[in-house]
Amino acid sequence: MAATVAFFFFAAILAAAAAGGGDAALVEHTFIVSQVRLNRLCNDTLVTVVNGQLPGPTIEVREGDSVVVHVINKSPHGLTIHWHGVKLQLNCWADGAGMITQCPIRPNNNFTYRFDIVEQEGTLWWHAHVASLRATIHGALIIRPRPGPSSYPFPKPEKEIPIVIGEWWEMDLVELDMRLRNGNLFDVPRAATINGQTGDLYNCSAHVDFAGAIKESNILNVEHGKTYLLRIVNAALNSEYYLKIAGHKFTVVGADANYVKPYTTDVITIAPGETVDALLVTDAHPGGRYYMIAMAYQPPKPAKQFPLFLSRGIVQYYDNNASPRKEEEALPNTPMAPEMPDQHDAVPSFYFYGNLTSLQPHPLPTIVDERLFYALDAGYFCREGGSSCQNVSNIVATINNVSFQLPETTPLLQAHYYNNMKSGIGTLPDGSPRMFNYSMSLAPTSKATSVRKLRYNTTVEIVFQSPVIADSYSNPMHLHGHDFFVLAQGFGKFDEKKDVKTYNLVDPPVRNTVHVPIYGWAAIRFVTKNPGVWYLHCHYGHHSSTGMAVALVVENGPTLDTTLPPPPADFPSCDNYISMLANE
Ligand code: C2O
Repeated sequence: MAATVAFFFFAAILAAAAAGGGDAALVEHTFIVSQVRLNRLCNDTLVTVVNGQLPGPTIEVREGDSVVVHVINKSPHGLTIHWHGVKLQLNCWADGAGMITQCPIRPNNNFTYRFDIVEQEGTLWWHAHVASLRATIHGALIIRPRPGPSSYPFPKPEKEIPIVIGEWWEMDLVELDMRLRNGNLFDVPRAATINGQTGDLYNCSAHVDFAGAIKESNILNVEHGKTYLLRIVNAALNSEYYLKIAGHKFTVVGADANYVKPYTTDVITIAPGETVDALLVTDAHPGGRYYMIAMAYQPPKPAKQFPLFLSRGIVQYYDNNASPRKEEEALPNTPMAPEMPDQHDAVPSFYFYGNLTSLQPHPLPTIVDERLFYALDAGYFCREGGSSCQNVSNIVATINNVSFQLPETTPLLQAHYYNNMKSGIGTLPDGSPRMFNYSMSLAPTSKATSVRKLRYNTTVEIVFQSPVIADSYSNPMHLHGHDFFVLAQGFGKFDEKKDVKTYNLVDPPVRNTVHVPIYGWAAIRFVTKNPGVWYLHCHYGHHSSTGMAVALVVENGPTLDTTLPPPPADFPSCDNYISMLANE
């Protein structure tokens, strides 16, 4: 009942907003990218960050606002910043996907991103989009409702708390990317982090927080009997995470800046690229302390096993009647720990995704114009070319047995805009469930800069299939510049006849990243309403860097307001991407 009321309330707000209500603001930031030494795990490590912070600054806006971000690159790496999940209508130039939409911003150069936030509310994030630099160059992007009578479609939270899950790498992230592209797929981070901190399970976790206090862990001080909004982002390269807080439940209210019907659960699943907004009601024993744990899922054997990654923070209640206590002071009693799922158990994840439904009434297109089947897999190729090599072969990730290659000199969007898509650019085959048997664990594969052209205003349905062999893995597939409906997910091999009947055609969740389960498949649907070149890729670093990607080229529509405008005047240029990455 409450959900129904909220539902109509929200629909009314959006209608009012569309009618021109509310006054939009201009939100301006300067991002200085540089290398700093940060101490974690008892070592100083050189990391590339924005404004000296990890995570970087949070961008806070209201729906309808315009954002301007001046990026000043004082780091030795060429880089771009991507606004993950922002729809960027007619503004593909601002998407910041390295070599897909733009050349990297060279060291000692600047570029200004300008974009509007339209009809999206909740949590998104921003991150570097070249090599693996997003592991340290990232931050939250929070979109609140417009001023006026509008508000959240849930009780107003006491406070909003960003929870950015990440990884700590003691390795140069550009080198990591080079290693990945040379077939070294098994580099792992040293630790998991919450808001940039490893937490008290790791050595030397004490740190000075921004208020100058010394903390052993991330401590969330809460008051009894209140509602807090957790804005959770998974900025990790490698893993899907389970998040729990001992003695508490979450009510999930949003994902990827789209509201969902309130779903109460004691465990949140979040894959790289995704965001989850969840309410936390502080109804546990006051005076208590409760561990919050983020734990990396890992595929079971025969997949290569890596160390168990856990980052811990503490939720502690403070008593507002007792003698005033310093906010940052840790209480003496031992926190209660949550019971975590088994690190190999994919069922809580499957269940979590299956329980998300959209709160808003979105018109779901029913006539599908283009059906694509994308088999997500791994293959090998020979360094010296040819298809049968004994020794020197690299393992790469693929879609429909093609491993995506970034162009080296001209970003795809520019090539497309200037009608200059060169001969080296191929078309990714559409695939079909019958084409793949997966009985082979590794197939010979090819590399190509592959695109799929789509006319403007086309309804596209894509079924993604993860491998169904023992050595499988999940795949969080992210599409730039669009949200899509997630119609269904399932375990096993997709079967058109029976699985189409399981589609949620009533209230499918709307997202920008779909978690394709391990050993399973997922189906999405969207309409191409935004001309440009939009990257579609797995958000795992070791998959995206080695080719599990395709670029969707959405053609212009028939009118001026369905046509991509020209690029900004100061758009960066480049002559060789690979050399730019490493150094000037
Ligand atoms: Cu969050 Cu193409 O990425």
